[in-house]
Amino acid sequence: GRRVVVTGAASGIGAAVVEAVREQGGTAIGLDVRASADVRALDVRDEAAWSALAEELADGPDGPLDGLVSCAGATWRARLGEVTAEAFTQVQAVNVLGPLLGLQALTPLMGPGASVVHVGSLAALQGHYPVAYTASKWALRGLTHAAALELGPRGIRVNAVHPGFVETPMTDSASPAFREASVRAASLGRTARPEEVAAVVCFLLGEAASYVTGAEIPVDGGTSSHGGAKAV
Ligand code: NAI
Repeated sequence: GRRVVVTGAASGIGAAVVEAVREQGGTAIGLDVRASADVRALDVRDEAAWSALAEELADGPDGPLDGLVSCAGATWRARLGEVTAEAFTQVQAVNVLGPLLGLQALTPLMGPGASVVHVGSLAALQGHYPVAYTASKWALRGLTHAAALELGPRGIRVNAVHPGFVETPMTDSASPAFREASVRAASLGRTARPEEVAAVVCFLLGEAASYVTGAEIPVDGGTSSHGGAKAV
């Protein structure tokens, strides 16, 4: 089985990825700021914590690492004019710096065939709300493509998935208007379950995607594909 590190593992999409990896016979090492019996404490913004994890995994008996899934994410529901520099910086730190630090710490432990998956967002594919979150997810696309370029010669793949509205604790507090608009905008006319995102992440982690790198897969029920057109 594959050995994969998953951030944001305590909740939502990250928890679903951990479960899917284990169902497929792999080993998932779950990380989150919220630790539990099954999830190790690690703040993705903490470079020293990443180094400590890398040292521990390198010294362990389990051999090379096969994957990293960066799921941990933060949002900040502020409109333009209300975004503080502090909040903007914090969203970038979790959504962009975190995945960068994960790449830097863990890809040295990986060999050919390993795979990194970034969880972006529909907000990375279009103008979206809120603004600081959208900016961070577009930046994550740049990180995905640049890292794929640098790690390609070592046989390490880097890809992104872009979920639409997924039923998780993050969207529990979404306004009814935003939820309804999201359902209307999706060609499939519904929201997603976290398992539906985890399945695509697992595809990108695995051997079936061995020639896929620097790619982005929307998992958004068709929302980004139709430019707002309505079926008649
Ligand atoms: P969630 O809120 O259920 O889970 C996010 C997890 O990340 C939480 O357990 C949280 O503790 C953890 N986390 C936050 N900051 C962290 C940090 N600094 N270090 C370590 N862990 C941290 O959210 P959900 O919905 O599962 O989101 C997962 C990813 O999917 C995020 O990157 C989010 O932006 C993205 N996404 C979610 C969508 C949705 O509709 N739920 C849509 C598009 C993208």
